[in-house]
Amino acid sequence: MPQGDMTKFESQGDMTECEPQAPRFICGGEVNNTKTKWRGIVEEYRSFLPIAETDKVITLLEGATPLVPAPKLSERVHANVFLKYEGLNPTGSFKDRGMTMAITNAYNQGAKAVICASTGNTSASAAAYAARAGLGCIVLIPQGHIALGKLAQALIHGATVLQLKGNFDQALAIVRELGDKAPVTIVNSVNPYRIEGQKTGAFEIVDALGQAPDFHFIPVGNAGNITAYWKGYKEYRDRNLSTKLPKMCGFQAQGAAPIVLGYPVENPETVASAIRIGNPASWQSALDARSESDGMIESVHDQEILEAYRFLASQESVFCEPASAASVAGLLKVGVPSGSNVVCVLTGHGLKDPDIAISQIEPPRVVEASFQAVMAELDL
Ligand code: F0G
Repeated sequence: MPQGDMTKFESQGDMTECEPQAPRFICGGEVNNTKTKWRGIVEEYRSFLPIAETDKVITLLEGATPLVPAPKLSERVHANVFLKYEGLNPTGSFKDRGMTMAITNAYNQGAKAVICASTGNTSASAAAYAARAGLGCIVLIPQGHIALGKLAQALIHGATVLQLKGNFDQALAIVRELGDKAPVTIVNSVNPYRIEGQKTGAFEIVDALGQAPDFHFIPVGNAGNITAYWKGYKEYRDRNLSTKLPKMCGFQAQGAAPIVLGYPVENPETVASAIRIGNPASWQSALDARSESDGMIESVHDQEILEAYRFLASQESVFCEPASAASVAGLLKVGVPSGSNVVCVLTGHGLKDPDIAISQIEPPRVVEASFQAVMAELDL
């Protein structure tokens, strides 16, 4: 059975030191990863995934993200809360789980290029994995509404980036049409391989806890991830690797909450740019996850998202991006029965969006470069 352990991180020390007495490993050539037990989600969970024995796997050793205990949050809600910190994936978001599968499939099917619409993270991940596979990558992003770090990632990994004078929903509509009419493979979560890869997040949670949690809190944008986690929990239960299923609790931002409202939002608006989506592709399967699990899909206000975002950084020392904090904002808003086991997915790293972080805090004071001046500013 796969182990959701942290051996990936242990291995990094080994790879930087070079011992002359090979064969422990060979510098500048093949790496001896005998101590690296983690092989990326495709190899770790191969028996759950649609992958042929002969397929070349495109991986950056994604997955094996930690389930960080959250003592202050647990105290606040009187429950045992864990944070699935997906910001520690190779490109800093959960998208890498889906992208290793989508790009592996595209590569082995002989694709030459992939395409996606994105609020940022999908484009960063697609660009990185496509470059790794030697495939072209085209991304359509809403102009002025993606975090700087994500834009930098897409560009530095060599994607062709088009900034659309429109929003994510319009970008995805164009991408779908291009997928039909041009020789490009779509790697948005409408590609079922993305969902297959992303469901491994649920496997890791059950591996780490020994059981599914009582509640699973998750941000909802295009609704692929809630769909994927629910699929993962069900598959593990069906193979007797857990005996129960969590209630799936999805949270949209109030200004971009089509599923909560029951109709598409033409001009979605939220500070959480990653989930600024008005017409989610996986709408129906998100509703299914909610009803089958007896869970909920609700909305949280931008102020609640930012409060949770600051709380996580200052009290739990976990820095996520604003959209990720929607899961915790949801938990703080609706609560859970005392003593419940709760997992909140933190979907992306806080460093993706430094502008928002800085906007939340007083700017640092400027002082003269002298001992006296510094001393005078400090309460020591
Ligand atoms: N959190 C982050 C950080 C995201 O980037 C996204 C989606 C979500 C949550 C919502 O996940 O769409 O599966 O419901 N980002 C997509 C993108 C839309 O283009 O990067 P979802």
